[in-house]
Amino acid sequence: MEVIVKKNYEEMSKAAATLFAAEIMENPKTILGMATGSTPVGLYKELVKMYEAGDLDFSQVTTFNLDEYIGLAPEHDQSYHYFMNDNLFNHVNINKENVHVPDGVGFEAGEAGKAYEELMAKTGQVEIQLLGLGCNGHIGFNEPADEFTKVTGEIDLTDSTIEANKRFFEKKEDVPRKAVSMGIGTIMRAKKIVLLVNGENKAEILKEVVNGPVTPKVPGSILQFHPHVTVICDEEAAKYL
Ligand code: F6R
Repeated sequence: MEVIVKKNYEEMSKAAATLFAAEIMENPKTILGMATGSTPVGLYKELVKMYEAGDLDFSQVTTFNLDEYIGLAPEHDQSYHYFMNDNLFNHVNINKENVHVPDGVGFEAGEAGKAYEELMAKTGQVEIQLLGLGCNGHIGFNEPADEFTKVTGEIDLTDSTIEANKRFFEKKEDVPRKAVSMGIGTIMRAKKIVLLVNGENKAEILKEVVNGPVTPKVPGSILQFHPHVTVICDEEAAKYL
């Protein structure tokens, strides 16, 4: 695991954007794994800026997002489909047919994950998978558990995740209780992984992810076993490293 510590959120976002931009320039038909949440907003802003400056072409890029809430349609303003359109896809020349976010509404229980896995297998290996880190150590929506999840599937969100994400909703009761998420096995199949972490509230868990034992109780700790992980964090998150 390579750990890059940047002064602040802005510098962290710029460093991550450089990695993604380099990948798109080198390989215009690349397949990228995307994340939502507060952490990557700055990174997506940087990529939009580069696109607007004429430095990036997304026309042949394919993307797979990590996760989606079950029960939220793509038009719902808290769905991850909506987030991606709003923060990135609507602002660059990506072909929407090449954009994939798990389906939170169109499938019977369990089927959305299967369809997503099949689509990913058919499309090819993700070159760089972007990840954020939950305060409980989750990556994607893979919550602390007794075993690492293998494939994309349905997840019961823990109370701590519902609590952490209620800031995006009017009230806690509005936060969906379930999500469909790439599994840990799915995430680990990416060629390269970039884990972005900022803020003091993630410092404890980042220490466990980077230096603690590998355990499904801290799902992000599995990244220690991946051959090509770059952690990019700000000084606050790096406090205990
Ligand atoms: C989002 C995702 C989650 C978030 C994590 C951190 O697609 O899969 O794992 O990355 O919950 O969220 P923020 O960035 O809002 O702190």
